[in-house]
Amino acid sequence: MTDKKTVIVTGGSRGIGAATCQKLLSKGFGVLSVSRTEPLLDGITHVPCDLMDPDGRRAVFKVLAERDDLFGLVNNAGIATPNLIEEFDHLIYERVMDLNTTAVAELSAAVIPTLIKNRQGRLINISSELILGFPTRTAYSASKAAVSSFVKTWALELGKYNICCNAIAPGPVETDLFVKNNPPGSSVREQKLNKIPLGRFGRPEDVAGVVTFLMSEEATFITGQTLYVCGGSSLGSVPV
Ligand SMILES: NC(=O)c1ccc[n+]([C@@H]2O[C@H](COP(=O)([O-])OP(=O)(O)OC[C@H]3O[C@@H](n4cnc5c(N)ncnc54)[C@H](OP(=O)(O)O)[C@@H]3O)[C@@H](O)[C@H]2O)c1
Repeated sequence: MTDKKTVIVTGGSRGIGAATCQKLLSKGFGVLSVSRTEPLLDGITHVPCDLMDPDGRRAVFKVLAERDDLFGLVNNAGIATPNLIEEFDHLIYERVMDLNTTAVAELSAAVIPTLIKNRQGRLINISSELILGFPTRTAYSASKAAVSSFVKTWALELGKYNICCNAIAPGPVETDLFVKNNPPGSSVREQKLNKIPLGRFGRPEDVAGVVTFLMSEEATFITGQTLYVCGGSSLGSVPV
């Protein structure tokens, strides 16, 4: 193990992932972005990878697992393809599940042996407040509920190696993904804004700050949790 702490962020090219890379970099972490397009920010190592290509991604994961300076993994890349349950489409469902859930398990499984060897590490899955349910998000909400569940099992399995595993469930955050599914002027966008007690949509930096906290020395006793970063919009719907 080296003194340098390197964190892998999937989907660091834009949105929440890009803000996360920037924040981690500012705190002194080495940062690798696993994405198809190159991140705009200097100082980040781009690992080109289409996470929807199972053979291609496994080859990349194998190389990443060989780095002995690995400290953290942020499973951030994700897609949402809204449709009603009666419009169920097997291909769409498979694509959402493959990127949002299967690739998360595969990449985590690949790097965990290195973290175990190092006797420290942090795994963070970016989930969503829509795990609580939302019309047109059958596949998306289920995929995000799965990654929230993953961290509970991983926390139990990996605590003895000093590896903390947590999920973050963002509410609406203004990114390409959000704008595509909630266009300016749409009623769904207005409804979502009205549900947020803090009266604004989230910014990518709001989530990036929490990822960085969970990577920090201040968060060494937090594991197996899903933290809602949602401006309060999940309140009234979260089971106690
Ligand atoms: N924005 C929100 O309101 C919100 C709320 C809750 C949860 N989330 C979750 O937060 C995460 C980030 O969302 P975002 O809003 O920042 O999305 P975004 O702006 O659309 O960015 C998505 C990122 O995922 C990467 N990605 C997508 N498909 C990929 C593929 N096949 N291979 C490799 N990388 C891929 C993209 O990189 P390339 O295109 O360069 O490959 C991009 O960097 C997602 O998991 C999302 O579900 C977002």
